[in-house]
Amino acid sequence: MTDAAGRAPAIRPYRASDRETIARICLLTAAGGGDATGVYGDDALMPEVYALPYVDYAPDLAFVVDDGGIVGGYVLGVADTADFIDWYAREWAPGFRRRHPTPSPPTAHRPAYTEAQLIADGGDPERMRIAELDAYPAHLHVDLLPTYQGRGLGRRLIDTLRTALADRGVPAVHLGLDPANVGARAFYSRIGFHELPSSRPDAPLLGIATR
Ligand SMILES: CC(C)(COP(=O)(O)OP(=O)(O)OC[C@H]1O[C@@H](n2cnc3c(N)ncnc32)[C@H](O)[C@@H]1OP(=O)(O)O)[C@@H](O)C(=O)NCCC(=O)NCCS
Repeated sequence: MTDAAGRAPAIRPYRASDRETIARICLLTAAGGGDATGVYGDDALMPEVYALPYVDYAPDLAFVVDDGGIVGGYVLGVADTADFIDWYAREWAPGFRRRHPTPSPPTAHRPAYTEAQLIADGGDPERMRIAELDAYPAHLHVDLLPTYQGRGLGRRLIDTLRTALADRGVPAVHLGLDPANVGARAFYSRIGFHELPSSRPDAPLLGIATR
């Protein structure tokens, strides 16, 4: 699909002015790939765990889909997860814990990934220290708004990040995903990701070489 001038959406580097849009896209795709608005008592939680620390720590490894000035999706990466864990523990977790001391009363959605677990994860960067970190030091998150899905943009975003990581000498990248997100699982398999040895049915872990 192209815009009125016939242009396909472009992939471009992240700019600081994209930050709020990225938080919104994270929320709109965080419930197994669908809209998570209202699923938790505080809509700020998902972006504060799975999007904003990434653009603050590694803005140069964030890329967005820019459709004539409208941002429709992103890929966010970190090259060295171990270093990100240290940064997160120092710079992000303390503020996160202060902002979110306890879960809100349960919403009617009753998500399998509870608000208590999400808050615990947001304050615990050690959860990112997977067994395969030496071989797969980078990790990523990718999300597109529904209008931009199924048009080859997810593949282009991942390819852009893989190239940026390869250029930095990073050999491979991994990701974790919600086991309920069967569409994303099919996408990752299709573009060449494989399951990592420590992957579990309730916490799938996938990886791919950067070249
Ligand atoms: C998952 C997501 C990033 C995939 O990006 P996308 O742009 O929709 O996927 P693409 O169009 O680039 O697809 C690349 C390939 O994967 C396949 N694929 C994509 N989604 C698929 C699905 N749900 N089922 C089966 N195959 C799928 C495509 O058919 C395509 O194959 P092809 O190259 O043979 O044509 C995107 O759909 C999305 O953001 N979804 C909502 C949020 C989400 O789930 N994010 C991931 C969280 S872990």
